[in-house]
Amino acid sequence: MKIDILTIFPDFFDAFLRTSIIKRGIEDGYINIQTHQLRDYSSLKHNRIDDTPYGGGAGMLMMFPPFYEAIKTLKQEETHIIMTSPQGKLFDQKKAIELAQKKHLLILCGHYEGIDARVEELIDEEISIGNYVLTGGEMPAMIIADAVSRLVPGVIHEDSSETDSLQQGWLKYPQYTKPEVYEGYRVPEVLLSGHHQLIATWRKEQSVRRTLTKRPDLLQEIVLTEEEKKILKKVNKA
Ligand SMILES: C[S@@+](CC[C@H](N)C(=O)[O-])C[C@H]1O[C@@H](n2cnc3c(N)ncnc32)[C@H](O)[C@@H]1O
Repeated sequence: MKIDILTIFPDFFDAFLRTSIIKRGIEDGYINIQTHQLRDYSSLKHNRIDDTPYGGGAGMLMMFPPFYEAIKTLKQEETHIIMTSPQGKLFDQKKAIELAQKKHLLILCGHYEGIDARVEELIDEEISIGNYVLTGGEMPAMIIADAVSRLVPGVIHEDSSETDSLQQGWLKYPQYTKPEVYEGYRVPEVLLSGHHQLIATWRKEQSVRRTLTKRPDLLQEIVLTEEEKKILKKVNKA
């Protein structure tokens, strides 16, 4: 999986690319994430990339030509181009799973008032990371790249992402680690039993319970198995 990120602030990504799981994923060759300076694609004096909007209005807008030239250079046969934007479709785990199947992502980061609207004609989709407006697309690009990268086989243990919250629609069951007891706070007894079937049943029930209490909206998206219907009934009664 290759991810190219087009930005006027490549330094923003230094810590992201040089830390923890993403760093290891890059070093081990599972993912290739590169930043590209948009200014390198400007033909103007001082590599200018913004100007005032036609028709008036506050702020500066990022110009069309640098994006056009950068896309022309960076786009390959199987490139999927994403523009970060508060006007895009909301990013979620389903979208991350879909994007993780792609060979090459090119993520465009806007800044200031955003990007000349002609760029919309060059992209595959617009993605928003939430219903709020940020100063730039750098954090959205990192969020997309991070969520997608950890789904690329090899980057993390696959069992781990399979049971993650949202991956199958449900929230993950609660997890505990050593010590068993601290200041009277105990780990649930069933997890110390060594009884795999009992633990699996408890976890499934907890997963359903958590989803029902914390994110009941998620249930509308899940096609319930017979087992899950029974658990839901039991949890609803409790
Ligand atoms: C200040 S915003 C531009 C907002 C634009 N004037 C509007 O009203 O739609 C500048 C850049 O930040 C990024 N951005 C801001 N909020 C975002 C969000 N919620 N999701 C994704 N990108 C966002 C985009 O790249 C955008 O071009």
